[in-house]
Amino acid sequence: MKEMVVGSDVGRRATPPPPPPPQALLERLKDYGQEGAFAMWDELSPEERDLVVKDIESLDLPRVDRIIRCSLGSQSYPLPAVEPVPEASVSTVEERTPEERERWWKRGLKAISEGKLAVVLLSGGQGTRLGSSDPKGCFNIGLPSGKSLFQLQAERILSVQRLAAQSTDARAAGIVPIHWYIMTSPFTDEATRKFFENHKYFGLETDQVTFFRQGTLPCVSGDGRFIMETPCKVAKAPDGNGGLYAALKSSRLLEDMAMRGIKYVDVYGVDNALVRVADPAFLGYFIDKGVTAAAKVVRKAYPQEKVGVFVQRGRGGPLTVIEYSEMDPSMASEINQTTGRLRFCWSNVCLHMFTLDFLIQVANGLEKDSIYHLAEKKIPSIHGYTMGLKLEQFIFDAFAYAPSTALFEVLREEEFAPVKNANGASHDTPDSARLMLLRLHSRWVVAAGGFLTHSVPLYLTGVEISPLCSYAGENLEAMCRGRTFHAPCEIAF
Ligand code: UD1
Repeated sequence: MKEMVVGSDVGRRATPPPPPPPQALLERLKDYGQEGAFAMWDELSPEERDLVVKDIESLDLPRVDRIIRCSLGSQSYPLPAVEPVPEASVSTVEERTPEERERWWKRGLKAISEGKLAVVLLSGGQGTRLGSSDPKGCFNIGLPSGKSLFQLQAERILSVQRLAAQSTDARAAGIVPIHWYIMTSPFTDEATRKFFENHKYFGLETDQVTFFRQGTLPCVSGDGRFIMETPCKVAKAPDGNGGLYAALKSSRLLEDMAMRGIKYVDVYGVDNALVRVADPAFLGYFIDKGVTAAAKVVRKAYPQEKVGVFVQRGRGGPLTVIEYSEMDPSMASEINQTTGRLRFCWSNVCLHMFTLDFLIQVANGLEKDSIYHLAEKKIPSIHGYTMGLKLEQFIFDAFAYAPSTALFEVLREEEFAPVKNANGASHDTPDSARLMLLRLHSRWVVAAGGFLTHSVPLYLTGVEISPLCSYAGENLEAMCRGRTFHAPCEIAF
């Protein structure tokens, strides 16, 4: 006979009370004011309780707590006033002589042929502005070749390796591979590795590419409490591109670099279609100048351009970057009365050079500092999207520690075609980047004695030159002189 159960007794008799959260873990959370992470414990299934316990256990709570407290607390410190970068710190395009350019180029190629340069790609960003869920490097900006950003970069590395092997000082050694370290995040790692495998590493040797993951940090509310993405998971975000330093250290890649005889490390962002990866001229300049950290810069196009600008923290203080999101709009518009140009005009293009020795020091120093930038962003939470804070370090934070620094101006139309926003936006889109590349390569063809025909207006099209044919416009005469190319097309071997 069936037992009759009546009214509100149903739930109570059928479901025993849930076990309490593990006491020791709850106490630790309480120590850091984060016990809210278990707020929904009673409503979770046994599997979900396991998940939330594992999620919390995976966090280094003392470190996370230190970072949250130091970063929120740092908001009230007065920072030294910001000054424009002294002119002597910048090598401008106009002051460069052809002899210097040639000397730097040769010097850089020599160091590359000796295996002294490594390249680090920062590819852990989520690319939310571009509106694609794939890693940004997989993006095809619509070039005639259909190449992705990753492929353009890989082929530029192949091209520089070949140039280095052909340079007079290095012919005997043959091709020395440039090691490419690719930093991913949990959001980009799997898709990035698969993309490289599916494309056979774009012709690179598989053992010259090393993938490694940056860390993540919890996203927090204004008072520093964890935001829960689901009842059993803390919302987390990559720890910024400056997470490179902690990631290089924890994955022991600094030792790997030292073991390979690497002395200089070129670090750059993934989303510039014109990026000159492993640029021999920049490397030669860096070695010549004898500094520990350097960055390429372009002149800021207009006051509200969404770029970080290099500044000096206090008179005689270290160089650093102020992000567009952190810069007062009136300061961004200030004019230097003598030159008539913007007072803060040196835009960061996210391409840096460091000595390995300096990277090793920074990997220890910056982490101890524990002050992260706070970025107010929409965070996915159990209550839908909510405004919260992401904690990030920035790659250029290291400049403040550098004993000596230098900035190297490059021309925007030659080296900076950012891919930030989806097509349809007014700037920095795949379309605008593609046009910049086509225009530059068309100029190279004409300079090498070639001709162009086109059935759409030339300002909307152009030719693309495979990086395997030319890295920076060199060695094109044999291929182009007297020949006519119909745009759009790719010129390749
Ligand atoms: C970045 C620069 C900005 C510069 C601009 C030029 C930083 C912090 N800001 O801004 O000063 O003017 O490029 O285009 O460098 N990334 C990671 N991990 C992360 C976050 C980002 O690897 O956690 C990578 C991205 O994949 C990308 C690069 O860092 O390759 C730059 O990041 P992004 O968020 O695109 O920076 P921007 O705001 O465009």
